[in-house]
Amino acid sequence: MSIDSLFRPFQLKTLNVKNRIVMAPMTRSFSPNGIPTQQVAAYYQKRAEGEVGLILSEGTVIDRPSASNDANVPHFYGREALAGWQHVIDAVHAKGGQMGPQIWHMGIMDNHHSGWVPPVPFEGPSGLNRPGFTNGSTMTQKDIEDTILAFGKAAADAKATGFDCVEIHGAHGYLIDQFFWESTNLRTDGYGGKTLTERTRFATDVIREIRKQVGPDFAVIIRLSQFKPSAYTNKLAETPQEMDAWLQPLVDAGVDVLHCSQRRFWEPEFDGSDLNFAGWAKKLTGKTTITVGSVGLTGDFFGAFAGESSQPSSLDELSRRMDRGDFDLVAVGRPILADPNWVTKIRTGRTDDLKGFSKEALVELVME
Ligand SMILES: Cc1cc2nc3c(=O)[nH]c(=O)nc-3n(C[C@H](O)[C@H](O)[C@H](O)COP(=O)(O)O)c2cc1C
Repeated sequence: MSIDSLFRPFQLKTLNVKNRIVMAPMTRSFSPNGIPTQQVAAYYQKRAEGEVGLILSEGTVIDRPSASNDANVPHFYGREALAGWQHVIDAVHAKGGQMGPQIWHMGIMDNHHSGWVPPVPFEGPSGLNRPGFTNGSTMTQKDIEDTILAFGKAAADAKATGFDCVEIHGAHGYLIDQFFWESTNLRTDGYGGKTLTERTRFATDVIREIRKQVGPDFAVIIRLSQFKPSAYTNKLAETPQEMDAWLQPLVDAGVDVLHCSQRRFWEPEFDGSDLNFAGWAKKLTGKTTITVGSVGLTGDFFGAFAGESSQPSSLDELSRRMDRGDFDLVAVGRPILADPNWVTKIRTGRTDDLKGFSKEALVELVME
């Protein structure tokens, strides 16, 4: 099957991407005290050189005192960190790539295995990371307002630094997702509620503030997931109607692209159709969508965290869905983490040279 559909250019607002392949955001923890180093810039530059169309950075935290549980996760605030990011985007542009930071607030977290803790307790909608696990405080109205402003400031800084777009991390059980999920959002004020639509209020306020700060023409992406690391099979939306009630408010608030995170892109979202999450999101909203999850690999990323290796696999099913118009862009994580030249190898048919993925790739910034 032809992979030509992966190599068509893509244009939307500030995005002028040479192909449909996006590097998925992947936390690396190689930024001591939150400052991205020259080595981090070189790591992303190698991916731009290797023909990745759009790079999404690892999650990088906004200016809230307990936004992170890890001292080596990069900040997206402060003079030194932003200077580090300036090197990153300049390095990526020098090789013809495009890039956006994934701006992140982790919300209520487990303490990091390093023993490092932030200067104040974690904060979240109801102090909960998952049912029965509290590790921090419930956000006040003022905390919420300040956090919304901090997301807006980070997006404005992304634009000012020269990034091509910004991605809001609204997935995987972190702060914004803690507001979406009824099990972690027990609030009785305007940020809680029985319906998923009511629980989108925090996300929509974040999107509106970002839109206000970056203007109408800067591309804004939000990443979403049905699953949580503590609940693999969770579904925030059980039906297409519920999904519409979740996504439409985000679109109305001004987001351009829905990045639909799945563990395995080929899994249908609902019974009765083979459409995946990105397929449904596009069908329901008409917006640009990104799919992700085990593209080109045999095993999924939860397996990778458990130390499992994955072998290269066929792109036929991906191409079938892409040709059908299910989604616009395809994010690829571990293959590009492990091999900066993955895209070039795919484009030129050098499939025998594909590396797959093994856990050794996680402990370094792979440059070759
Ligand atoms: C080491 C690692 C770190 C990750 N960090 C993030 C992150 O910071 N933000 C995020 O949204 N997803 C993160 N993910 C999930 C990936 O973006 C992606 O959705 C997942 O790996 C599935 O894609 P893949 O099967 O192509 O690897 C991470 C995945 C890995 C393997």
